[in-house]
Amino acid sequence: MLLPETSNIDPKGVLSIGGLTMEQLKKQYGTPLQIMDIAAIKKQCRDYKTCMDGQDLDAEIVYASKAFSCIACCQLIAQQGLSIDVSTGGELYIALESGFDPGKIYFHGNNKSEQEIEYGLSSGVGCFMVDSFDELDLLARLAQKQGKKQKIFLRITPGIKASTHEYIQTGNMESKFGFGIRGLGAEKAVQAALSYGSLQLAGIHSHIGSQIFNISPYEKLIDVLLKFLKKINGSLGGDIREINIGGGLGIAYTSQDKPPSIAQFADLVHDALKKYRKKHGQPIEKIYLEPGRSIVGNAGITLYEAGTIKEIPHVKNYIAVDGGMSDNIRPILYQAQYEAFLPQRCGEKPQKVYDLVGKHCESGDVLVKQAHLPIVNKGDLMAIAATGAYCYAMASNYNGQPKSAVVAVEDGKSWTWIERQQYCDLISGNRKLYEQP
Ligand code: LLP
Repeated sequence: MLLPETSNIDPKGVLSIGGLTMEQLKKQYGTPLQIMDIAAIKKQCRDYKTCMDGQDLDAEIVYASKAFSCIACCQLIAQQGLSIDVSTGGELYIALESGFDPGKIYFHGNNKSEQEIEYGLSSGVGCFMVDSFDELDLLARLAQKQGKKQKIFLRITPGIKASTHEYIQTGNMESKFGFGIRGLGAEKAVQAALSYGSLQLAGIHSHIGSQIFNISPYEKLIDVLLKFLKKINGSLGGDIREINIGGGLGIAYTSQDKPPSIAQFADLVHDALKKYRKKHGQPIEKIYLEPGRSIVGNAGITLYEAGTIKEIPHVKNYIAVDGGMSDNIRPILYQAQYEAFLPQRCGEKPQKVYDLVGKHCESGDVLVKQAHLPIVNKGDLMAIAATGAYCYAMASNYNGQPKSAVVAVEDGKSWTWIERQQYCDLISGNRKLYEQP
């Protein structure tokens, strides 16, 4: 589903989410506005849990907070019983400040600094997802210094190419992430990990990419990981019973997109586990999934106000909105496709083709190309759905654009999750010319 869970369009064509119309939300919070439907996030968490439960092995769902992170979102994720993946000290800070149980935090990152590792260790992070030999050595040393035996997973690059945009493929051998399974990288990493008294190697991890619709590579992934586990638990002398197959399940951004459901994904994972546990004779006890986008993506919708309308006869019509690439970099970065609509006039027939552009000083600042819409007037409310993941998370202050507010809606109520930035936020931390600290 493209629109958030609790969306409703009344007979007059007015969209409401969580029981509130977009006009009401605009009046209270202004635009551009990122709206998050709490019921939609809860549903995705519930679906992952129920679809993965009830089999003969444990499953842990770890929300990849890079998709969207703030104090309230981390609290909601914790309340739903999920764990959390952080990929930097900054994401770790947000999770910890939200009160997240450190034992349920999984610390990723391909270039963790010494300071970040120390921060993770001293805050009692449950598990480090180790990405490189440098990290392995440093973590072992720092854990020893703190008198700890730190649980770790090794991130493995399985040599599997997922069909998605090349910028978000991560399982191929040339990836910057993880220990390659071909050659001896992954094997050597296992040997090293097993040799450190301050580390407890608990499992192996792999993330093959993001926004994946063709999920068959996950079957291959489970085969590859369990085959490697056979080697680890055999000739390498390990005893590992846990695997993490990362995130990546795609979502619908347009009405043409038909991603697999969480249930279909879970079925494939369970079938593959049955098949390859038998084939490789590995007593797997626990599987971890790390979804990000499919938890929050369709819960989000961005509200804009139409501003300048430029019509170039026989060439193109433009509608410029009050946001753009600063609140959604995905179209310009990945050629991601979205659909624009008029949330107060949902039933109306399209009459014109417009490019929906932002207010930034870039011709590439196009949010939606060739949107078929009713006649749009300056001041109309406009919306883009499926913006809950990797939009606010990748937002910038380009052109001095303050970041939008993020508000949550549920049961006819709304409240702020993240305040709208003010101009003064743009110079926070700035100092005067030659001013000494
Ligand atoms: N686990 C790891 C180790 C990851 O690197 C990622 C995403 C995930 C889990 C979650 O993947 P998801 O379920 O969200 O697909 N900015 C890009 C997406 C980058 C994904 C990075 N890693 C975009 O806007 O499409």
